[in-house]
Amino acid sequence: MRTPLIAGNWKMNGSTELVEAFGQAFSSAVLPNSLEAAIFPPYPYLGAARAAFAESPLALGAQTLNPHPAGAHTGEVSGPMLREFGVQYALVGHSERRQLYRESDEQVHERLLAALEVDIVPVLCVGESLAERDAGHTLQVVLHQVGYVMSRLEPAQRERVIIAYEPVWAIGTGRTATPEQAQEVMAGIRAYLAEFDRGLADGLRLLYGGSMNAGNAAELLAQPDIDGGLVGGASLKVDDFLAICQSAG
Ligand code: G3P
Repeated sequence: MRTPLIAGNWKMNGSTELVEAFGQAFSSAVLPNSLEAAIFPPYPYLGAARAAFAESPLALGAQTLNPHPAGAHTGEVSGPMLREFGVQYALVGHSERRQLYRESDEQVHERLLAALEVDIVPVLCVGESLAERDAGHTLQVVLHQVGYVMSRLEPAQRERVIIAYEPVWAIGTGRTATPEQAQEVMAGIRAYLAEFDRGLADGLRLLYGGSMNAGNAAELLAQPDIDGGLVGGASLKVDDFLAICQSAG
C-alpha cells in the first residue's frame, strides 16, 4: 500500500563523474516496479543530475532549502529555485543541520512549509543521540521532533510529508540500528500519527537511515513499519545503491 522510497543523501560529496555514473547505471537498471528512488546531490550538481537521470527512474532531491522564496540571503537556495531544477523531494531537519548549523524545530518547520509551498515532498528527519538513547529517552525525543512539526500542519499538509528516522549514533558510524530497534521506533511514530488520524498513520511513509548498506538493507526494509531508506555513505557507490534499491522490491 505504501510505495517504498530509497533516497540517497550524498551530503557534501560527489562529483560530475559520479552523477554521470549513476545516470548510466540506472538508465539500464531493472528496479522493482513499485519503487521510488531518488538522489540528493549537493546543489551544484542538480542541473547535471537532472540531465543525466532523465532516462532513468532516479528522481532528484535537495538536502535542505531556505524558508524564503527569494531575497537577501547570501549563500542560500530557495524552494522555487529547486523546483525549477525538477527537484521532487527535500530533506528538512537532518541531524547534521540540527547539530552543525543549529537548526531549531521552528526552523525545520519553516523549511518544511517552504517545500510544501512549491510542491516538493519534505522528508522530515528525526532521531536521538546516543546519550538520549542510553538515558531511555529515544521515543520521547523522536516524538517531540515529529510532533513539533506535525501538530503545526493542516491535515492535508501532513499527508504530504515523509518521515525519516535516523538515530544519530548510527549515522556514518557503521553501527546500524538492529531491525528490531528501528521497527520499535517506527511503530512508535506510526502509533503517534494515529492520534492525528488513522488514515494518516497508515499512509505516511517512514524511512530508516543510519549505516544502511547492501548487506543490511533487506532485513531492515522487511520490517512492517519501514517503508524505505535514507542512505548516506552507501549511496555514493553505484553498485551498493543499486543493490539497496533492488532489495526494496
Ligand atoms: O541522511 C543519510 C544519513 O545521515 C545516513 O548516513 O552514511 O550512515 O548511511 P550513513
